[in-house]
Amino acid sequence: MRKLLTVFGATGQQGGNLIDYTLSNPELSRAYKIRGITRDPSKPAAVEFQERGVEMVKADMDDEASLKLAVAGSFAVFAVTNFWEKASAAIEIAQGKAMADAAVAAGASLLIWSTLPNVTKMTDGTLTGVVQWDSKADNINGDFEFAQTWNADTRIPLIDIKDTGKYLAPALLNPKKYSGKIFTAATAYYTGPEMADTWTKVTGKKVRFVQIPGGTTKVSLPPEMMRILKDSLGLIKDYEYYGPTGEREVQWTLEQIEGKASTWEEFVRAKEPWFEL
Ligand SMILES: NC(=O)c1ccc[n+]([C@@H]2O[C@H](COP(=O)([O-])OP(=O)(O)OC[C@H]3O[C@@H](n4cnc5c(N)ncnc54)[C@H](OP(=O)(O)O)[C@@H]3O)[C@@H](O)[C@H]2O)c1
Repeated sequence: MRKLLTVFGATGQQGGNLIDYTLSNPELSRAYKIRGITRDPSKPAAVEFQERGVEMVKADMDDEASLKLAVAGSFAVFAVTNFWEKASAAIEIAQGKAMADAAVAAGASLLIWSTLPNVTKMTDGTLTGVVQWDSKADNINGDFEFAQTWNADTRIPLIDIKDTGKYLAPALLNPKKYSGKIFTAATAYYTGPEMADTWTKVTGKKVRFVQIPGGTTKVSLPPEMMRILKDSLGLIKDYEYYGPTGEREVQWTLEQIEGKASTWEEFVRAKEPWFEL
């Protein structure tokens, strides 16, 4: 009999890809039936999954009673939070705890948590505000600038979010072996100039990496948000995104998954066209 996999964030990138991957992977779809969680089952993404045989259930991470029903009968639960929707660490922690508590109370055997390193610990308390990193590209004089505050030799681990299912499949197929393990997911580490060169190669348009001075900003944000962005940039420049052991952990993760993860070049090709003015 197929076990039940409950996927939070089903209408989003990570959860949506996990569902797609599970539906299309013969071994996983034989092992699991899927329940997707959304606050709004009438959303097009939810309706589409429902039509593909996914049981879509309405629940809200902020509403514990709804979580109890959401995870009832689950063997495995995939939990992801969306920090930026409320931009509050306290709410994100409460949501994660509520999902984990509900999964444990429901007797789930496997809880997969979409996480990132604890930066405060990793940097010995130097950076206390990091949750998310964002990037932006700028366009000047017909050529294109990939403008970041990173150094030219800062290396960033990149993941194609469409590989989410591929990264989670080992834990779903072999829960005992991977119990308590962290999958640090990325295809590889890339520098800004390497990313820019790939854009140039794929699009034929000149893209170059430029480093903008730290502290330069065109936006005005609340102080707490500014602190988060400042520490996020400090993390990437001074400690590496996944910390000092990240590259070794990424290598281990790549050895566990089936097939290859998408490269930055494959991602850029798949997302064409770029730089439409
Ligand atoms: N993008 C990156 O480069 C990156 C890198 C590292 C980490 N992350 C982390 O990834 C997370 C976002 O993941 P994603 O990109 O897959 O998300 P996403 O595409 O923005 O989708 C968010 C999902 O969360 C669900 N959701 C949000 N609040 C909810 C609530 N209160 N109750 C129930 N469901 C709720 C939404 O469902 P409904 O709206 O349908 O209810 C939606 O399916 C963030 O925490 C971010 O920090 C992103």
